[in-house]
Amino acid sequence: MTPEVAPSQPYYRRDLALAHHLGYGFHADACAPGILRLLEPIRPRRGLVLELGCGSGALTRHLVDAGHRVVATDASPAMLELARPAVPDAEEIRLLTLPDDPLPECDAVVSVGHVLSYLPDEASLEAALAATAKALRPGGVFALDLLDRRYGDDVPPDETRGRVGDDWAVIARLSRPAENRFVREITTFIRTEDGSWRRDDERHENVLADTSRVLPLLALHGLDARVSNSFGDEDLPRGLVAIVGRTLAA
Ligand SMILES: C[S@@+](CC[C@H](N)C(=O)[O-])C[C@H]1O[C@@H](n2cnc3c(N)ncnc32)[C@H](O)[C@@H]1O
Repeated sequence: MTPEVAPSQPYYRRDLALAHHLGYGFHADACAPGILRLLEPIRPRRGLVLELGCGSGALTRHLVDAGHRVVATDASPAMLELARPAVPDAEEIRLLTLPDDPLPECDAVVSVGHVLSYLPDEASLEAALAATAKALRPGGVFALDLLDRRYGDDVPPDETRGRVGDDWAVIARLSRPAENRFVREITTFIRTEDGSWRRDDERHENVLADTSRVLPLLALHGLDARVSNSFGDEDLPRGLVAIVGRTLAA
């Protein structure tokens, strides 16, 4: 059985972070219009948006371009190194590892790319959700996506998927070893300056949330939230759900 322990290094080391930056911005691009609509109430008052798991800044760019003040955070130093030059006009881009690092008080929390699903187990996922809800000021907006128990239902055993660019390739072997766990064994190839290819391997373990527990937990912390199939008009894959809500105004 796979032990439920955090990996010794953060996910997304240098090569996978770069491949993600070059080839995987499409999810943030698709979610951005819906998230920007949800954030409209806080824009006139220049509310602070806290982004969790910003990666290399794919969503951050949309938020900042729309005039939001954004503190963008991630647990991967390699991702943050890419995000800083990509979104130099963010309020701050900083290392923040869920669920234990303190969160700044804010007027909105946003996150795309199932960031909280990277936590090692459901207890950590629920701790991160609670910390997030507590960080929100009255009238705050909450919008993040999560993997639920349906994710991977339609993936055949030992399925392998890949994407390739001119100077990078990513191949992922997928498996669903338990009802609440999805695993990607990811191999990355990056073309180096001398034309040779460098390989790296990462194992990504995702916890699949029982969403029937999520809304009552958020309600305990003053958040009126719902589980939705999208943030706006985009189509999310089966089992990737948007949790969208507001804190009660003071
Ligand atoms: C699939 S990527 C999504 C990145 C970005 N939001 C996007 O859409 O391009 C997941 C991100 O979650 C971050 N992450 C994983 N575990 C985390 C944790 N415990 N705390 C904060 N960020 C974490 C990873 O470093 C990675 O950048």
